[in-house]
Amino acid sequence: MARGAPGLRPFLPADAATLAALFRVSIETLAAEDYDEDQRAAWISAADDEDAFAAQLGEALTVVALVDGEIAGFASLKDNTDFDMLYVRPDLAGQGVGSALADAIEKLADARGTKTLSVDASDAARDFFAARGYVAKTRNTKEIAGQWLGNTTMTKELAAEAAGRAH
Ligand SMILES: CC(C)(COP(=O)(O)OP(=O)(O)OC[C@H]1O[C@@H](n2cnc3c(N)ncnc32)[C@H](O)[C@@H]1OP(=O)(O)O)[C@@H](O)C(=O)NCCC(=O)NCCS
Repeated sequence: MARGAPGLRPFLPADAATLAALFRVSIETLAAEDYDEDQRAAWISAADDEDAFAAQLGEALTVVALVDGEIAGFASLKDNTDFDMLYVRPDLAGQGVGSALADAIEKLADARGTKTLSVDASDAARDFFAARGYVAKTRNTKEIAGQWLGNTTMTKELAAEAAGRAH
């Protein structure tokens, strides 16, 4: 990785507009091989209502990654068991930002006693999650804003990590 491990901090309400913009550009660029323009536009429309988007991030446990002091990506854990969001800035993709965020989400879930972490992985992120030990369980087709988007529910057992902790 070119610049060292990214810094991590909790989401703040003031981050919302930056994260909405990052969400859009991440999907537009990094998901372009797996979803067509109409599908990406539908996915991106989830951030059209920025207040609702901010509320969703605030209700979950959302972590922000920083590279050179700027927001490079974000991830969220919902209900302690669902890896709900993971988005990286396209110009920083492939530099370990997604891995650092996923490490943080897995540690947070583990610390809350979660045994099995679940993610509805986009086709753009499926190999990323598989490389981290997530196992594909079900194939889903979800309607968003009139478009059908495929994803895969994948799970990872965190119990091994918990078992390794001192008691
Ligand atoms: C998937 C995503 C989060 C990965 O972030 P990233 O910062 O590029 O990931 P990293 O740099 O930490 O990559 C870690 C490893 O996964 C690999 N990897 C990353 N993205 C990958 C992809 N799309 N397919 C296959 N492998 C991938 C990297 O090559 C790297 O492997 P290495 O450790 O052997 O070098 C990012 O591509 C993204 O934001 N995608 C678009 C949004 C999306 O689909 N989010 C998921 C919603 S469920």
